[in-house]
Amino acid sequence: MRIAKGTKVFVLTGAGVSAESGVRTFRDSNGLWEEHRVEDVASPEGWAADPVLVWRFYSERRRQAKTVSPNPAHVALARLEEHLGDDFFLCTQNVDGLHEAAGSKRLVHMHGELAKSRCENPACDLEPFVDEGLYFGLEQIPRCQRCGARLRPHIVWFGEMPFELHAIKRKVQACDLFLCVGSSGVVYPAAGLVGEVRYRQQNGEKCRSVYVGPESPDNARAFDEVVSGKAGEVMPGLLELV
Ligand code: OAD
Repeated sequence: MRIAKGTKVFVLTGAGVSAESGVRTFRDSNGLWEEHRVEDVASPEGWAADPVLVWRFYSERRRQAKTVSPNPAHVALARLEEHLGDDFFLCTQNVDGLHEAAGSKRLVHMHGELAKSRCENPACDLEPFVDEGLYFGLEQIPRCQRCGARLRPHIVWFGEMPFELHAIKRKVQACDLFLCVGSSGVVYPAAGLVGEVRYRQQNGEKCRSVYVGPESPDNARAFDEVVSGKAGEVMPGLLELV
């Protein structure tokens, strides 16, 4: 696929882009996420019921995150960004920092970042901050230095609103190519973004959508093309930067 300078490219990545780095995807183990029910560790209800479990879970993920590194798919996307500059935009659903580790800069983490914590009190003005803390016990649940409320992982849980949705939609509405890598197309609103491209096509706009991954995603019909294969194997050769 030839990508000339000046092409506006929107990239959406999901757990699959990090799979070859050794980060497990969400839907590969019967609804369990690292042996936990997703709703126990990734929902406001889970947090209310057992904050120790939730912090233990994300502390474990933080520890794991230090052991993984970017794979050729992350690197290919960072190269694409170097080629396109401000015409490139990366929206990741992943909470790991592997895109940044590969050199990506113009990106948003719509589902939050594992490396950050924030105050759980919506009225507190403490900004989300980088936190390497590992919290495994009740007495260790960290507190906000400003208001005293509990700190929570800076992660979008089920039932919560993803970050930066307006900026993301504006970028999709302006792109020439929408490229999605390694996402099952199950979780909305991310899974619905490709529908925006379809809508623009129906209105006569020229834009194209491509999916890359080993399986067809749930929203495959909304894409113009599905390229079958693992991200780390397909991505480096997929894009011809001209
Ligand atoms: P999923 O676990 O739902 O889907 C992972 C996708 O990656 C699947 O479609 C796999 O086929 C694909 N895949 C696996 N190995 C791959 C590889 N080597 N290369 C490319 N693709 C590969 O993950 P997401 O779609 O990212 O939300 O899940 C979306 C959201 O659901 C997550 O961000 C998370 C989760 O619950 C929150 O935490 C809010």
